[in-house]
Amino acid sequence: MYPSPELSIIVPTFNERANVEELIKRLDAGLEGVDWEAIFVDDDSPDGTATLVRQLSRNDSRMRVVHRVNRRGLSTACVEGMLTSSAPFLAVIDADLQHDERILAAMLAAVKEEGLDIAVGSRYVEGGSMGDWSQDRQFVSRVATRLSRLILKANLRDPMSGFFLLRRELLDEVVYDLSAIGFKILVDIFASAKRPLHFKEIPYSFRTRHAGESKLDGMVAWEYLMMLLDKSLGHYIPIRFIPFAFIGGVGVLVHMAVLWVVFLVMDKSFVAGQTAATLVAMTTNFFMNNLFTYRDRRLRGWGLLRGWISFSLACSVGAVANVGIATYLFENQSIGDMGWVLSATAGILVGAVWNYAVTSVYTWSKPKAA
Ligand code: GDD
Ligand code: MN
Repeated sequence: MYPSPELSIIVPTFNERANVEELIKRLDAGLEGVDWEAIFVDDDSPDGTATLVRQLSRNDSRMRVVHRVNRRGLSTACVEGMLTSSAPFLAVIDADLQHDERILAAMLAAVKEEGLDIAVGSRYVEGGSMGDWSQDRQFVSRVATRLSRLILKANLRDPMSGFFLLRRELLDEVVYDLSAIGFKILVDIFASAKRPLHFKEIPYSFRTRHAGESKLDGMVAWEYLMMLLDKSLGHYIPIRFIPFAFIGGVGVLVHMAVLWVVFLVMDKSFVAGQTAATLVAMTTNFFMNNLFTYRDRRLRGWGLLRGWISFSLACSVGAVANVGIATYLFENQSIGDMGWVLSATAGILVGAVWNYAVTSVYTWSKPKAA
């Protein structure tokens, strides 16, 4: 028999080359007596993290790499890493040594012996600490933690933790319901479970990053909001429709601003103003949606031009439908007097849904299934 390890440790990486060897050394020291393996999930890091892991794994079969190309995403990396493992216990840890690997053995023991679903490395329970984090980041973390209470049924003190160890059955239970948007996979797991989870938080002190740079930027906050929305409303509406409609609203303001400049300030004809405003608004809407709504499927290079053309075509048809329906409702007295506000709203709604539906398929198509 050549049994596979009992514990798979998933390490999501993006540009973490300088941390890999140190992490393995520390896992080795901290996990004596445990049969473990480390699965790095690397999104084609420019610094060659994947290549290094592959090289090292030639002499150390406890490590391997899942090398993803044309992909980004911390949560999806964790999920896919876990799915490549057959171990009964799965852990997730950052590569930058901010998480204290010395508590992994205690996390494993707790899950195994106390029959827990999951053990969480926590900075907020007695004995844990935030380490040297700046006041700003501590504040943001606290706000995010508060927000998570809206969707979490558990009284988890550190839901923002990216450091945890779970029983594989829990993964099997939640995997189809995960949003897997952004950074916060632990919140996602807890919110996706259909029952209260048996968990324990094990304290540790958050350390400062060993080498390299953090990948956390403003977009992470946006993705977190999208994840919360998906978890709370995702059963009822496609979650991207919310930013799409919001950006549509911003587009109206852009339209009015351009129209005002061309028609009133520059004193051109109304047709010229309206045409310019429509083009500018469509274009800014396209770029905003590309940046926010479809961040994970962002178009680049020539794809941008193709995307812009298909977006503009779709929205032009949407505009015709919008005006047609609104006018019909407004003028057709046989259905009663709708009034201009209701008629216009109905037209806008139909146009928005059309634009959303068509561009989600043609402009930002899902990555093709192989
Ligand atoms: N594969 C992959 N793809 N890995 C990624 C990506 C990505 O797009 N973005 C980040 N990572 C990896 C990093 O290389 C690192 O190993 C880990 O995910 C965490 O990223 P950091 O950039 O170090 O994030 P952080 O320090 O701001 O936040 C981390 O610590 C928090 C506190 O525990 C995250 O793990 C948070 O989830 C965690 O709450
Ligand atoms: Mn970090």
